[in-house]
Amino acid sequence: MANSLKGKHIIVGISGGIAAYKAPMLVRLLVKAGAEVRCAVTEHALQFVTELTLETVSGNQVYTELFDHRNPHSTEHISLKEWGDIMVVAPATANIIGKMANGIGDDALSTLLLSFRKKLFVCPAMNTQMLESPAYQRNAATLRQDGAIFINSTCGELACGTVGDGRMAEPEDIVELIERSVDSENDFAGKRVLITAGPTYEKIDSVRFIGNFSSGKMGFAIAEELATRGAEVILVAGPTHLKTNSPRIHRIDITSAREMYNAATENFSSCDAAILSAAVADFRPEHEADHKIKKQNDSDGMVINLVQNPDILATLGSMKRDGQCLVGFALETDNELDNAKKKLAKKNLDFIVLNSLHDQGAGFGHDTNKVTIIDRDGSIIFGDLKSKQAVATDIANHLASII
Ligand code: CTP
Repeated sequence: MANSLKGKHIIVGISGGIAAYKAPMLVRLLVKAGAEVRCAVTEHALQFVTELTLETVSGNQVYTELFDHRNPHSTEHISLKEWGDIMVVAPATANIIGKMANGIGDDALSTLLLSFRKKLFVCPAMNTQMLESPAYQRNAATLRQDGAIFINSTCGELACGTVGDGRMAEPEDIVELIERSVDSENDFAGKRVLITAGPTYEKIDSVRFIGNFSSGKMGFAIAEELATRGAEVILVAGPTHLKTNSPRIHRIDITSAREMYNAATENFSSCDAAILSAAVADFRPEHEADHKIKKQNDSDGMVINLVQNPDILATLGSMKRDGQCLVGFALETDNELDNAKKKLAKKNLDFIVLNSLHDQGAGFGHDTNKVTIIDRDGSIIFGDLKSKQAVATDIANHLASII
């Protein structure tokens, strides 16, 4: 394993469960792996593990109180969240998971978690009944959708005397999973990826257009994911209010399909891969009026002649040279798999991501999506409903396995 944790700033959040006795071992292993560690603990956790132990193994002061009487102006939860690259909550009780899922910040740890926006690992530990309770399942699902990475509990003897699921994963396994996740962080370093995202607007006249309901969220999530993993991203974006965060994303804002076509074809040859997630309007009005079209007569209808827009994906498919990887999306309502496979072959793609409008919570405007990845060799991966961020990770992982 590469020395991926060397120099990383890791905050270990410890909540009040019996598994807190394993937290010093986790801290020790992280420090041994080269990380700098700070601990944030709840009052209940201090019933199971002492501040002195954590200070000794981490070599740093332990963060226990929201309001520090010694320094009433301190906003430790702000400076600590900026300091940390990664946060791991181990053990994560049902209580802290409930607070995290619902935005409650009533102590040092929960307040810090509320403001922490980077890589977050959650290591649940509780008894089986709590783990299986609908409330916990709901909260865990919410957190997953928000992008938290769960390191699942295992089966074994529990503190309550029973045997079942709910034991916190072993510290060695937690460290290995964190290392593996960090290892994949830079797997796109040196790669350039073109992404199209959002809708296109096709002008009818100076005030009206033909558009669609695409929000651009899926394409923007892919752009952020790839940039975080080291890629230079060229994001050709249709009209959307979304913002980009990474400085490695070079954004080209366009309005119409033809503008998107120009930006994509100009940039594709310098890229290692392209992912075309935009919902491109297939047709545009034949004539675009340069003034507002007026009603002619109260009862008259109106006919707009439409002509086809160029197919950007198919064009890139015909330009593709050896070593370049091309990924398309397919939005289907009928014969989904068959139609997606046909698009994959016809547009010369390496894989295609199939969205279905039948699935609740998936598709336009939602923060979640459910996709199926179909490969050139015919293999199919069926995904679950997850956050668009998690779907972006799956797509990036698949792309990484090809390029
Ligand atoms: N696409 C494109 N340019 C177009 C139309 C579509 O680049 N003019 C891309 C989309 O970004 C997507 C893929 O082609 O990656 C499939 O889009 P989709 O709308 O599902 O299919 P179409 O090819 O437009 O075919 P149809 O409308 O017949 O389903």
